[in-house]
Amino acid sequence: MKAESWGTRLGLILAMAGNAVGLGNFLRFPVQAVQNGGGAFIIPYLVCFLLMGIPLLWVEWSVGRFGGKKGIHSTPFILDAMDRRRFWKYIGVFGIFTNIAVASYYCYIESWTLSYVFHSIIGTFRGMSQAEVAQFFVDYTEIDKTTLGIPYEAIVFYILCLALNTWILSRGLAGIEKVAVVGVPLLLIFGAFLAFQGLTLGTSGATPEHPDANSWEGINFLWTPQYDSLLNPKVWLAAAGQIFFTLSVGMGTIQCYASYVRSKEDIALNATSAGFTNEFVEVVLGSLIVIPIAAGYLGIDWVRENAGFGMAFQTMPYLFDKWGALLGAIAGVFWFGLLFFAGITSSLAMGTPWVGFMQDEFRWTREKGALSFGLIILAFGLPTVLFFHQGVFDEYDYWGGTVSLVIFALIEIILFAWIFGIDKGWAELMEGSDIKVPIVYKYIIKYITPVLLLFVFLGSFISPPVEKRFVASKSDEKITENLIAYLEQNGFEQRSTDQRWILVASAENFSK
Ligand code: PHE
Ligand code: NA
Repeated sequence: MKAESWGTRLGLILAMAGNAVGLGNFLRFPVQAVQNGGGAFIIPYLVCFLLMGIPLLWVEWSVGRFGGKKGIHSTPFILDAMDRRRFWKYIGVFGIFTNIAVASYYCYIESWTLSYVFHSIIGTFRGMSQAEVAQFFVDYTEIDKTTLGIPYEAIVFYILCLALNTWILSRGLAGIEKVAVVGVPLLLIFGAFLAFQGLTLGTSGATPEHPDANSWEGINFLWTPQYDSLLNPKVWLAAAGQIFFTLSVGMGTIQCYASYVRSKEDIALNATSAGFTNEFVEVVLGSLIVIPIAAGYLGIDWVRENAGFGMAFQTMPYLFDKWGALLGAIAGVFWFGLLFFAGITSSLAMGTPWVGFMQDEFRWTREKGALSFGLIILAFGLPTVLFFHQGVFDEYDYWGGTVSLVIFALIEIILFAWIFGIDKGWAELMEGSDIKVPIVYKYIIKYITPVLLLFVFLGSFISPPVEKRFVASKSDEKITENLIAYLEQNGFEQRSTDQRWILVASAENFSK
């Protein structure tokens, strides 16, 4: 069997960019930034990028290509090849299972985007009030309610989305490359269009109801640096968590992708450009869409009170509709299409470690590996689908998408810099590279990054950044004033809107 590798350099670069650029850039980043004080978030975020994100990217590319030279493609075998002790193999299993945990909720959101593209095309949101658009999402995710005559629509689209992922994965790297070559440029074009709208909206969306609406205030809020929160460990944790998630480090996907790179490829350059592409998409495009557009119609105060994951689905279709039938539909298709391409190029990356492992260990075919991945995600993802409103989803994101990334990254960098040895590791990174990575990074990788990772790891015990949310429609008669008062006494804070009860509690308060 001929060793598999990326077909073209462009394919490799776009696949790697597609891996990194994902729902995290457009949904997670803006929400994290708003919830952590806007401009106050940006400084810790950039520091984490330079001192943890970029170094980890270099480490993971080196580790991956090192494995690839030996014909192995998943972290259990690769870590095993870096040091003879047996336990590395088991630690490497993290690099497969975190992907399964993350893919289990990630693919569910991805499936919403497919459905919302469909609904934007057929005009479901035309003329709906803000409350109706928000209610549509609630009905959709309550799965047994019927949306537009389609019962169990959420499940239908979830299965469709998994089938699509499975099929592409079964076509191997060539399939992933094709999706990336089409999807990444399209998402950049869609993103540029929407960012332009966000930038130029200005105050023209103000109404008597929201007289202060101004899209530039949204941008200012994100970009005016504030120094007061620099000493707040919560903000640092959130920033570090976002950097891990958005760069896809600590997961095993980068090592897996890099293991299919030809050995003469300039990995230092590739890793750097993939990292900076992701950051461009995140801080430029990611901050010019949801927040400014929402602030442009509803005002920055509304955004600060309502910032959450649902904003993209519960608010954007209503705002786009203000642009008229045609432009509104186009904006909807662009927005959810952008999210879909961002999502699928990332979920495919989460599938490759499993498929690669099954091929290496059990000589499975790609098709069998891909199909088993689809079925596993179906099984593990079903709780997020069925119990979305009970917070299962947040649980997956916290353990799978936050804590385990940090643990894995910490162990991995110790292996790389201290056991495999930084000199050998550095030589691995520099092999075949034309760019010179500044030599200070040799010391950063050896001392600074591991210490910072340790802080983040310990810090995550001190203040778990998890929230419990209670959300209900105000028209729901079962929700009484007494219940709301009771929740408030138990550490929940009100962030209700005109139509909905929203109460939020941090986990520490909640557990009391
Ligand atoms: N980086 C992706 C995003 O920003 C998520 C991801 C994490 C993808 C881990 C692959 C592996 O959405
Ligand atoms: Na990203």
